[in-house]
Amino acid sequence: MKYGYFDDNALEYVITTPKTPLPWINYLGNREFFSLISNTCGGYTFYKDAKLLRLTRYRYNNVPYDNNGKYFYIKDGETVWNPGWQPVKTALDSYECRHGLGYSTFTSSKNDVEAKVLTFVPMADNCEVSKVTLTNKKSSDASLTLFSYVEWCLWNADDDMKNFQRNLSTGEVEVTDGGSVIYHKTEYRERRNHYAIYGVNTAVDGFDTSRDAFLGAYNGPDSPDAVADGKCTGSVASGWSPIAAHQINVTLKPGESRTFIFTLGYIENPEDDKWESYGVVNKKPAVAMLDKFKTEEAVDASLEELKNYWKELLSIYHVSSSNEKVDRMVNIWNQYQCMVTFNMSRSASYYESGIGRGMGFRDSCQDLLGFVHLIPDRARQRIIDIASTQFQDGSAYHQYQPLTKKGNSDIGSGFNDDPLWLIAGTSAYIRETGDLSILKEMVPFDNDMSVAKTLMDHLKCSFNFTATHKGPHGLPLIGRADWNDCLNLNCFSEHPGESFQTFGPSEGPVAESVFIAGMFVKYGEEYAQLAELLGDDAEAARAREEVKKVYDATTTAGWDGDWFVRAYDANSNKVGSKECEEGQIFIEPQGFCVLAGIGVEEGLAEKALKSVEEKLDTKYGVMILQPAYTKYHLELGEVSSYPPGYKENGGIFCHNNPWVSIAETVLGHGNRAFEIYKKTCPAYIEEISDVHCTEPYVYSQMVAGRDAKFFGQGKNSWLTGTAAWTFVNISQYILGVYPTHKGLSINPCVPEDFGDFSITRKYRGATYNISVKQNAQKGVSKLIVNGKEVEGNVIPYEEGVKEYTVEAVIG
Ligand code: GLC
Ligand code: GLC
Repeated sequence: MKYGYFDDNALEYVITTPKTPLPWINYLGNREFFSLISNTCGGYTFYKDAKLLRLTRYRYNNVPYDNNGKYFYIKDGETVWNPGWQPVKTALDSYECRHGLGYSTFTSSKNDVEAKVLTFVPMADNCEVSKVTLTNKKSSDASLTLFSYVEWCLWNADDDMKNFQRNLSTGEVEVTDGGSVIYHKTEYRERRNHYAIYGVNTAVDGFDTSRDAFLGAYNGPDSPDAVADGKCTGSVASGWSPIAAHQINVTLKPGESRTFIFTLGYIENPEDDKWESYGVVNKKPAVAMLDKFKTEEAVDASLEELKNYWKELLSIYHVSSSNEKVDRMVNIWNQYQCMVTFNMSRSASYYESGIGRGMGFRDSCQDLLGFVHLIPDRARQRIIDIASTQFQDGSAYHQYQPLTKKGNSDIGSGFNDDPLWLIAGTSAYIRETGDLSILKEMVPFDNDMSVAKTLMDHLKCSFNFTATHKGPHGLPLIGRADWNDCLNLNCFSEHPGESFQTFGPSEGPVAESVFIAGMFVKYGEEYAQLAELLGDDAEAARAREEVKKVYDATTTAGWDGDWFVRAYDANSNKVGSKECEEGQIFIEPQGFCVLAGIGVEEGLAEKALKSVEEKLDTKYGVMILQPAYTKYHLELGEVSSYPPGYKENGGIFCHNNPWVSIAETVLGHGNRAFEIYKKTCPAYIEEISDVHCTEPYVYSQMVAGRDAKFFGQGKNSWLTGTAAWTFVNISQYILGVYPTHKGLSINPCVPEDFGDFSITRKYRGATYNISVKQNAQKGVSKLIVNGKEVEGNVIPYEEGVKEYTVEAVIG
């Protein structure tokens, strides 16, 4: 069952009922000012950092789901309703929410009054603009009262929900223009030079800034006293919970419409220009911001600018095939999700509270893989930010805070896959841009510039970290965990409340990871190529020797007979082996080792993928392991703490499905690679939205596996490395346009019946118009570039050539 449909021409998903199985959200904002917004107008706003600079309050872990948002109430006689249905939940006569790229619209009606709300964050301003249009479709006059409502968060979202003894006394506001503009200035007198505003472009008939006055102390946003009374109270908050609410009385003739523009903004003043007069904030920048968006023309032009921005971005990789769903994901939603994961890492979603994890080292490095083609300059800066949190021995802080860019010492380091992901991200950036200068940038360690070294030296530290941290079988030591955060082989946590990851020693001398071995083979080779590009052939040769050692250890100690072993635990027992009672086969080493090329010549790769198909495949995707753990294994940690079928314990962890799909393309299996792609692909599973539950336009981190009660149910949508990896898979391996250091390589691997297709790819300042004729699953038999036949798969990059016409024949 579906709850809406894709409108590909508009680049929108259209939701036709507010009662989706879970809140279906969108992200507004492209750089520093962000909002999350659900299909019922729930959500919240922050500047740069969802923990430290949160503008509006949200209630995670509340009932009902999705509590608090930026709400508009319409009072029409005795009827009160909201364009997004929540929070009053008055049954609507019509409802439609369209989530577009960086904006959302809500069009609803009740008793012949129509409301249309458009909400977005403009390209260059730190604000969210909402344009609200009311239309009277009755045959008589409509006397309406429109109320707005936002609840301020006292900036630090973590402290805001804990430190009531202080916070209930600090709230401060100012009100100007008869109530049209409300300033939230809590803590501005002391260590802050920023405040927030909520203004409307018209004179108002009332306002409130105290939550208790507007709602009534015992009411929720579903039944504000002020709305029931038809008028605000003019309250000026002092402590407690400051809000911003406007009241506008409007009478519309039959057929008449009126539009109001609301601006929710973040303002920062220079330290020495904070005040207009004693105790009164300097409002100049706020007034300028409100002025900028006071007319409909200005708002429409700003939205147009946002839309054009996205059109331009999406023209960098564009496919036309006979598979509508592939085109839709590749050309719109998958790339959009890559932008969101790049911006958010794993910080703020409806499943990440914005106060927990900030930017993840491994997560953000992987997010880069799906983002780097869109805005390489931002990727460049991100690589440097991430590398700045590395330690001198090559290990790294596992997470850092986006505002401060400093490593998070609560979680610290010791996740031994982290260092290698930095090579992955940097290599992708250089293959995309050819910009070797990044390798020569001076980058601090642990943010200490006095010990800065070049980025290439950082990569060397990454490489050497793995090369010098190996266990008894010559395989890399796992540390606290590798990619699978829940395989905690050095932890032995026996008491509730201990973190599975950071309890106990960060590293044991025995527990090893075959997954990291696969990464080392893949990214060790990419490191060697970078050394070569810098003219350091000796380093490249040294790297390849180290890689060879790990390769050999993987095909021997890392091989279980029919698949790759997952790891060795702290007692040197195998994990992910036939010898095990539970958890006999894991997906990660099968996918990653094969995509790294391990065991392809020896025939191991073929066997490993067959085993995946036999043991891990389901109709909803490939499970992470089997059989799922039914009891807690102290020696394995968190992985065995989840009920069977959920999360890392036998869930379909979508992130590593593309690894297996890519691995299949390495072996030339186009049919199978695509089958795996389709199983978790949002557009292909839209029809089962009632089972899947999460948004049908983006990937979720996890879909419950076969052992779970709710097999097929998605969780943790939006912020997952699945976005980047599936985009890499479909764009570079299945459709086969892969950036190499020498230029684009064309080597698709598609199912037999895929059909001919064409791709436009903008790359290093040139446009490539590529058309592919398909007669087989894989194997380019002919490649013609600008009329001339070329040997091999790579289109030679020629400085100065701006247009390439490429014809490729498969089979
Ligand atoms: C989560 C984490 C990611 C980790 C994965 C597997 O998605 O964000 O870092 O690799 O879980 O445990
Ligand atoms: C838990 C989750 C895992 C996530 C980690 C982040 O272990 O199962 O997916 O990566 O927490 O700390």
